[in-house]
Amino acid sequence: MKKALITGITGQDGSYLADLLLDKGYEVHGMVRRSSTENFERIAHITDRVTLHQADLLDELSLINLVKLVRPDELYNLAAMSFVPTSWVQPVLTGEFTAIGVTRVLEAVRLVDPDIRFYQASSSEMFGKVREIPQNEKTPFHPRSPYGVAKVYGHMITVNYRESYNIFACAGILFNHESPRRGREFVTRKISDGVARIKLGLSNELRLGNLDAERDWGFAGDYVQAMWLMLQQDEPDDFVIGAEKTHSVRHFVESAFAVADLDWQKYVVADERFLRPAEVDSLIADASKAHKELGWKAEVSFDQLVEMMVKADIDRLKKGA
Ligand code: NAP
Ligand code: GDD
Repeated sequence: MKKALITGITGQDGSYLADLLLDKGYEVHGMVRRSSTENFERIAHITDRVTLHQADLLDELSLINLVKLVRPDELYNLAAMSFVPTSWVQPVLTGEFTAIGVTRVLEAVRLVDPDIRFYQASSSEMFGKVREIPQNEKTPFHPRSPYGVAKVYGHMITVNYRESYNIFACAGILFNHESPRRGREFVTRKISDGVARIKLGLSNELRLGNLDAERDWGFAGDYVQAMWLMLQQDEPDDFVIGAEKTHSVRHFVESAFAVADLDWQKYVVADERFLRPAEVDSLIADASKAHKELGWKAEVSFDQLVEMMVKADIDRLKKGA
């Protein structure tokens, strides 16, 4: 039985990846940080099938001891401060988690067992002010937020540990991926939750920022498959993962309100508080390398994703959750 260790198991991607690895027969371990209240909502359905351990990206010794204790075959580093607007408010802490945290995990791998296969959650946010359209593995980076800058560091240190120490380290450059388990501050979930509240009479407006921004959105359940595939290859490498279609936030809004038979223009209010100091205007992936070498492609379409998220939020709120 193969053993996997997931940092960030309580997050959206960590929970889908844990589901996937359990289905594949892995022994799954998850790293969680200490909190005064438990935060296991997304993994509630599998807490009896995974082993959770406390450690923190800020604490090197806790990471070394964790890797020593679990001795995984595969380590998926998904933990990070992942919300872009917070990275302007807490730029130093974002760097500690999202940039230096990657080095701490890689050091734990190098010291304990350099044969552990390592996955780093890199991001399309690194492309930022894009230098070419669509974006592939060779597109230069121009991040537009402290989060994006931190992710560039995490990406390059992963490449560097592969080149310096021959560690099987891969970085997946993932474009935006969403689901009913997405954090509610991210725009897609904010919209699906907002539509559900309006539909059920719990709210009468949805306040949003830049409706013109364009993202290449896919379903998180599809994207965790790509993470696993990268660690099953003969050689470590980096891959762009995305749906290869771009849509504006406005189009997501229109589609989500349409699922609930509502006219979005009656409810959406422009709110400057949600504008960013520097914006990533438009992202679109060229995932041809992943199609060719991993045999991966996005299965869930944009329309299916929007419908899935709106219906899940309506069902959840009807149950009073
Ligand atoms: P998420 O839902 O925000 O989950 C982040 C996870 O990191 C949570 O489990 C969180 O734990 C954990 N974490 C944060 N700081 C930590 C620390 N100091 N020590 C230990 N754990 C810590 O993010 P996601 O959407 O699943 O994304 C997973 C990864 O992929 C992130 O690195 C993100 O930056 C990257 N990424 C995401 C996307 C996307 O579209 N979703 C695209 C590209 C890259 P708590 O539950 O305790 O907060
Ligand atoms: N969050 C939010 N809230 N975003 C809004 C809003 C709003 O009210 N109104 C408009 N937007 C726009 C943002 O300005 C941005 O252009 C777009 O919606 C998407 O915002 P988010 O959903 O917050 O995601 P993100 O693209 O900034 O970052 C996500 O994707 C990255 C991959 O490209 C995160 O998951 C990152 O962790 C990830 O790396």
